[in-house]
Amino acid sequence: MKKIITLDKFIYQALYEKKKGYYTKNISFDKHGDFITSPNISVLFSEIITIWIIMYWQNIGRPKKFDLIELGAGNGEMMFQIINTSKIFSDFNNAINFYIIEKSDYLKKVQKKKLYKFKIKWINNINKFKSKNKCLFLGNEFLDAFPIKQLQKIKNTWYEKYVHEYYESRTINNKKINIKKYHNILGIEFIKNKNFIEFSPSLINFIKKLSIHVKKCYGGVLFIDYGYLKKSMINSLQGVKGHKKYNILLDKGEVDITHLINFYFLKKILNDNGLNVNGITTQGNFLRKMGIIERAELLSKNKIFSYKVNLYNRLKRIIDKKEMGDLFKVIFASHKSIKFKKGF
Ligand SMILES: C[S@@+](CC[C@H](N)C(=O)[O-])C[C@H]1O[C@@H](n2cnc3c(N)ncnc32)[C@H](O)[C@@H]1O
Repeated sequence: MKKIITLDKFIYQALYEKKKGYYTKNISFDKHGDFITSPNISVLFSEIITIWIIMYWQNIGRPKKFDLIELGAGNGEMMFQIINTSKIFSDFNNAINFYIIEKSDYLKKVQKKKLYKFKIKWINNINKFKSKNKCLFLGNEFLDAFPIKQLQKIKNTWYEKYVHEYYESRTINNKKINIKKYHNILGIEFIKNKNFIEFSPSLINFIKKLSIHVKKCYGGVLFIDYGYLKKSMINSLQGVKGHKKYNILLDKGEVDITHLINFYFLKKILNDNGLNVNGITTQGNFLRKMGIIERAELLSKNKIFSYKVNLYNRLKRIIDKKEMGDLFKVIFASHKSIKFKKGF
């Protein structure tokens, strides 16, 4: 039977459908998988993030109880390194409670196996997070895992992308829409003068819920993801398989479907939900300002040549402009009372 579904519904099924979705079955985040994330490239990445978290904790007055909540923890590598690094700082270590909000049951199992030694609370859904402590949310490559819609204006008429499915044969087609139905969610001003819009209704909804928690706990949220800063939007939808671009319509459930984050729009959504954006910068700038090069120098002292080569090759991948350094951005949003700009 022929099925016609919105693009975001198709992506949602491809990524999260029970047992068949890309994130709900055997997925790997290292060199054996389809893509590799910064925590899985270099331990230095998670170490520097931990130092930033500790500085943030100090800046808000070293609360005796402090919750760190990782959003979408993948294979658990970043949480593993954050907990290990935290142990060196005993006051901080005594204050911190670790949480993971993870949607995929399969990945939750992977995380529990890797992190079995540590005290962590897992939560399926942000609605279920409850705490009276000061808090900080953290998400690396979390935002790009949400399904998107695409809208296009052709000769003054707006269309939305739909996927037509007939068994394994799929095409993307335009369907005429009344743009007014997106006025509330996107804002009339934002739509004005645009011919193309790419956005994730489920991410907007998630940020709305997240912002309520951030405001309630006088906290913040740090996101790291690939994307761009300009106001206009580009068609950035892509499939990734075996570290290469791949057609999103083929091999449903076997391909990562992702997109670039428009940080201008993300900032608007965070602001619309009453949060203050303290800074946006590139991953390369952030990590350098936080002292990643000095840390690498310290670690490589008196080490054999092959160790140094490995360490610096990995460092280069995450900070070099031609690799992940420029494409990846870091954004920190918080309760309005917090002014913390370290790293930006
Ligand atoms: C691209 S992976 C990144 C994994 C990890 N942060 C890393 O850097 O290696 C996205 C992660 O977010 C999770 N995820 C996606 N949508 C989610 C949601 N709405 N709530 C919780 N987790 C979600 C996925 O299951 C996966 O663990």
